[in-house]
Amino acid sequence: MEQKQLIDEIVKLKKERDAIILAHNYQVPEIQEIADVVGDSFALSKHAANTSHRVIVFCGVHFMAESAKILSPDKTVLLPARDAGCPMAEMVTADRLREMKAKYPEAAVVCYVNSSAEVKAEADICCTSSNAVKVVESVKNKQIIFAPDQNLGSYIAKQVKDKEMILWKGFCITHKRVRVDEVKKIKELHPNAKLLVHPECEPEVQALADFLGSTSEIIKQAREIPEKDIIIGTEEGVLHILKKENPDKKFYLLSPGLVCQNMKKTRLQDVYLALLNMQHEITVEEDIRQKALKSLEEMLKIN
Ligand code: 13P
Ligand code: SF4
Repeated sequence: MEQKQLIDEIVKLKKERDAIILAHNYQVPEIQEIADVVGDSFALSKHAANTSHRVIVFCGVHFMAESAKILSPDKTVLLPARDAGCPMAEMVTADRLREMKAKYPEAAVVCYVNSSAEVKAEADICCTSSNAVKVVESVKNKQIIFAPDQNLGSYIAKQVKDKEMILWKGFCITHKRVRVDEVKKIKELHPNAKLLVHPECEPEVQALADFLGSTSEIIKQAREIPEKDIIIGTEEGVLHILKKENPDKKFYLLSPGLVCQNMKKTRLQDVYLALLNMQHEITVEEDIRQKALKSLEEMLKIN
């Protein structure tokens, strides 16, 4: 099917099925264009929790669609690219987290949303990169187990001095690719540019940034700063909206490695087939869902 025809079919099916399409900022441009909402993990969770539509088509990776199902159990949640996972989320399991909890019985568990429902069920509260500092500040315990992203955890630890952060050693394979020498080189090439970086990057890279934030915070910052040259230290999908919103500004990707293969798996054809056949539905076992919901709801209370 031609692209135009595919889009028409998706629009038609979306109405018939009473569906909403949510897409993460890292999705390919044509998916961002057909989505009803494009945003960061936090914004998409909020939309998933509050939507009145019967079906949620989640263009992102598995943990995002799973969070949508946890928050909206009565909705049908579809993940068009069935095998779109997040390698970081797979770096922590509920069993290993329970072992860690047994080792630090006084600690609260703060869990990055990039994790499975089983892991969220073991946590006291979830966070995303946009609210991580506020979430950790809200926790009463002095000791905090933070999983799975070590880089986001060390970013939080620098902001929140009165907590003892016990960091899981997980990482984002995409953001970890950025090397300090690449940062220095691109800064030399564009000496007047501002560098906006995601906290999933290594601490040495974070240290060279002018601004650190989630994907949507980076997009907002790029919109608001007067500088015309901006270096982007997160996955390249954000360039679509950045260029669209700021035609007078120039954007440079910090590293060619900033491409998440999993985020690129969803194509128009997948969205069409998901809606046509109502396929690749996400399910979560009810007792796990109840526990994971508590951690997500605690997070949603913060913002
Ligand atoms: P945010 O959009 O919340 O910053 O998430 C980044 C990310 O890597 C999602 O997988
Ligand atoms: Fe996971 Fe990193 Fe891809 Fe986000 S960008 S889905 S954290 S691998």
